[in-house]
Amino acid sequence: MFSQQNVNYDESKVPDFEIPDLFTTFDGKKIRNIKEWETIRRIELTNFFINNVYGKIPENLNIKSWKIVEEGTGEINGKARRKQIDIHYENNGKKLTFNILLYLPNNIKKAPIFLGFNFYGNHVVFNDPNILISNAWARNNETYGIVNHKLSEISRGAQEINWQVEKIIDAGYGIATIFYGEVDPDRNDFSDGIHPLSYSENQNKPLENEWGAISAWAWGLTKAMDYLEKDKDVDASKVIVFGHSRLGKTALWAGAIDKRIAGAISNNSGCGGAALSKRKFGETIKSINTSFPHWFCDNFSLYNDNEEALPVDQHSLIALLAPRPVYIASAYEDKWADPKGEFLSGYYATPIYKLYGKTGIDSKEMPDVNQPIYNCVAYHIRDGKHAVLEYDWEQYIQWANIHIKSEKNKIKPKP
Ligand code: GCU
Repeated sequence: MFSQQNVNYDESKVPDFEIPDLFTTFDGKKIRNIKEWETIRRIELTNFFINNVYGKIPENLNIKSWKIVEEGTGEINGKARRKQIDIHYENNGKKLTFNILLYLPNNIKKAPIFLGFNFYGNHVVFNDPNILISNAWARNNETYGIVNHKLSEISRGAQEINWQVEKIIDAGYGIATIFYGEVDPDRNDFSDGIHPLSYSENQNKPLENEWGAISAWAWGLTKAMDYLEKDKDVDASKVIVFGHSRLGKTALWAGAIDKRIAGAISNNSGCGGAALSKRKFGETIKSINTSFPHWFCDNFSLYNDNEEALPVDQHSLIALLAPRPVYIASAYEDKWADPKGEFLSGYYATPIYKLYGKTGIDSKEMPDVNQPIYNCVAYHIRDGKHAVLEYDWEQYIQWANIHIKSEKNKIKPKP
């Protein structure tokens, strides 16, 4: 792991830096309207993130088949129904299957849903004996009874508090989750997960500008969207992607590249997520690339100790989501993720939201702890540590009620 010895946690040592202007193209042309944003600037920014940050996702990996492998109708005291769906992929003579666990409220015909990956298997999110336990590689963890990289019964329901399934159902939303290890095990090894299905002959790892793990997980979310569009019980025009930490980085990237996604929530996503890299506060590009060399594409390491050279910063990623609602959440004690840098990304992305007549973050002053801003670009800083807590979900639901649920604010995805 990267040594945390030289980490800057001192605001007075944040360097002076220029925030890349969202309205000026890389070759200096001024962007004047939505059309120019969408047809010129948004495209060049997306391409920059593809080739230099997260890595290019192959386009030829489509669902081979899918199957509902388990269902229940009278769940959570009759309030919900449950489906577990296997999605199969096949290419290069190789196969991959991931499973979506879906709970839907029984009192809604086509429910809006939250969609996000979990870290320790679908069975940790809710104490339900019917949830299948994945066979995919998992990081060993004593508390969760994960030995020899195998998930086990011991952790069933262990993260209920972080997922709040019942609260979400009561609020009129469905929830879909996938074990991220099924799409790509979180280790520096490109022989497993989805990557090998895309290799050309004699290739055994992605090229410098090809997908790392975050792009692979984002691919998984976009493929879950392919399924959700086919499920009559889901309102696929109201899917909000959600993720914590590395999976918060993933949620933002998935939202940026897939316009079918109605909104995105990044919970404590930090470096390579919502936090501005040029502040060099807490985790830096060099430290993340050193500790997690498989997350980003290799080209991203060109910016190790070289943030000045970046022609973008993470506010540009937030802007790629516009005009769709985005929620950035920080935790007060989570200095490693740079709460102020996360907040400022929302602030600097706001002019693009304004272009669409949407609301964002208007002041550079951070709000106090536990004082959420429920705008189209939303933000809160909660007291406490790096985690997803009941408080966070309460805010996400309130905000989704305003920006996703109501017809008036519905954003129609562009083809
Ligand atoms: C590490 C990493 C962060 C990441 C976090 C997580 O702390 O440095 O970038 O967000 O793990 O995913 O839990």
